[in-house]
Amino acid sequence: MSTTPIVAITGLGTAVPDRVVTNADFAAYLDTSDQWIMERTGIRERRIAAPGETLTSLCHTASRCAMSNAGVTADQLDMIVLGTISPDRRLPSSACELQALLGARNAAAFDIAAACPGWLYGLAIAEGLIASGRAKTVLAIGAEKLSSVTDMTDRSTAVLFGDGAGASIVQPATGDGRGILSIVLGSDGNLADLLYIPAGGSTEPVSGKVVEERTHYIRMAGREVFKAAVLAMARACDEALARAGVTADEIDLLVPHQANLRIIEATAKHAGMPMSKVMVNVDRYGNTSAASIPLAIAQGVAEGRIKPGSLLLLVTFGAGFTWGSVVVRW
Ligand code: ACO
Repeated sequence: MSTTPIVAITGLGTAVPDRVVTNADFAAYLDTSDQWIMERTGIRERRIAAPGETLTSLCHTASRCAMSNAGVTADQLDMIVLGTISPDRRLPSSACELQALLGARNAAAFDIAAACPGWLYGLAIAEGLIASGRAKTVLAIGAEKLSSVTDMTDRSTAVLFGDGAGASIVQPATGDGRGILSIVLGSDGNLADLLYIPAGGSTEPVSGKVVEERTHYIRMAGREVFKAAVLAMARACDEALARAGVTADEIDLLVPHQANLRIIEATAKHAGMPMSKVMVNVDRYGNTSAASIPLAIAQGVAEGRIKPGSLLLLVTFGAGFTWGSVVVRW
């Protein structure tokens, strides 16, 4: 069985802040070490936005690059879908601010809050819009400024996250076999409190107490999240492969969410894929949530590991819990 793609990713662009924060930078003020962080996570450094550097500015740079890569003008964009849990403001959406920066006068725009799978959720929305004839050209972005929601005094989360943006142009497939072969999405809200931001929403709006107790920052039960991530990503891989009618042997490159090297290794082992066929850049960027997979794909393309026609398996997991997987012929 093989499926015929409805849509293809015709352009990709990324942006990360210039500022590099190393493990030694954390060890200088927290009770942690480069050795602990490397052994438990595989992270060596991450990019952190400079003061004044916004989520929207990262999205703008990444989007311009993706549009140029696809040969698409701002007028051609029908829809802007931005996966993020760290928008510049709660109102309006960062997608609308981006729409204005791009001058995309024909585009509707909205954010989606699906945590790390945000970009994959955006691809699924783009596919649906294009399949239904509502759109021809969709800008689907995954971007985070996680440094704005991370408690930099909490060693159990501060060392994990980074900032960045990955933008893609999604258009109808041309019939040459390239494009998205399957998409799997899922969620389990019963486990929400294992990875969440307790306050700052409408249940407990920002107040002096919230700021004092630092509950406007990410809280995470790392060990439990780890176990749930490994299980969900393994299942999501199996399902995406089955729906696409391909086997793991046929996959040229596994591009997993870059949360933790040990989760990536467990996912590859389950899929029966050697690490030589796995994209890893968590060492350079840490966990950039929704930006993670497009950043990894872009690096794979730049390094020549992903070429036109390469068969990729993408898989991700995040707060919610949410997860997603995609088989795409690049
Ligand atoms: N430096 C030194 N010690 C630390 C640090 C640190 N940065 N962080 C925690 N520790 C300590 C803990 O306090 C604990 O000490 P204790 O035994 O005295 O209580 C000890 O290290 C072990 O802690 P564990 O949580 O058991 O360590 P574990 O091996 O599970 O690694 C980690 C922790 C890296 C967070 C791991 O659980 C993990 O990666 N979990 C998944 C996290 C993740 O990927 N989250 C995001 C997924 S969803 C998304 O991307 C949004």
